[in-house]
Amino acid sequence: MTTDTITPQTAQHFYDWLGAKHDWGSSFEREAKNQALDLLDVGSAQRLLNVGVGTGKEQRVIQKRLPPGGLSFGIDLSPTMLNLTQQRVPQTQLCRASAEHLPFTTGSFNCLLCTYVLDLLGTAVLPQVLSEFHRVLQPGGKLVLVSLTEGTDVPSKLIIGLWKAAYKVHPLTCGGCRPLQLQTLVQQAGFSILQREVIVQLGMPSEVVLAER
Ligand SMILES: C[S@@+](CC[C@H](N)C(=O)[O-])C[C@H]1O[C@@H](n2cnc3c(N)ncnc32)[C@H](O)[C@@H]1O
Repeated sequence: MTTDTITPQTAQHFYDWLGAKHDWGSSFEREAKNQALDLLDVGSAQRLLNVGVGTGKEQRVIQKRLPPGGLSFGIDLSPTMLNLTQQRVPQTQLCRASAEHLPFTTGSFNCLLCTYVLDLLGTAVLPQVLSEFHRVLQPGGKLVLVSLTEGTDVPSKLIIGLWKAAYKVHPLTCGGCRPLQLQTLVQQAGFSILQREVIVQLGMPSEVVLAER
């Protein structure tokens, strides 16, 4: 299949190479991720899946906030990222898998988090990925997504303009990520949007979506 983004193989090689260095450049993501973790309401999660766990920083927060008996799971394409998460959060259950084909039975989770992963997947596979999120969530289950998005004020519009220009020349300069607008895609996958906001930190805009299955 042709893709308008980097291929899954390139993504895996890039994130295997990036490893722990990923955390160095994450200062523009912190506020959006904190908001996502609050919206997820981990204290009420029984089984929570984090898709694209990365280095495991969020998984560590999740594990600390889980109620007694709550279980956390994570998947990632990159073995390096899975190893980093395993070291940070030995209690979590991890496996190597793609967001397009989640290795879990229908209705396995009541919470699902996915931060800064959809924005590096091809436009053509996004409906399949969201339909997988819908499948593995129980009815009433909570979905929280964070993605790079379009700018909302002059500085963030300017930065996203430059970002898109760099992405066109060499997508990996941007970690393979380009701005998305998630709301419609999430609704088309059968979710109800409960909250949506754009958080701009250091000029970088992130869309944070809370939806219910
Ligand atoms: C930009 S990082 C974000 C990591 C983490 N969620 C965060 O917010 O810090 C993207 C992560 O998604 C993983 N990834 C890329 N393509 C994927 C796919 N198709 N399925 C699952 N994980 C994928 C990468 O290996 C990487 O760990």
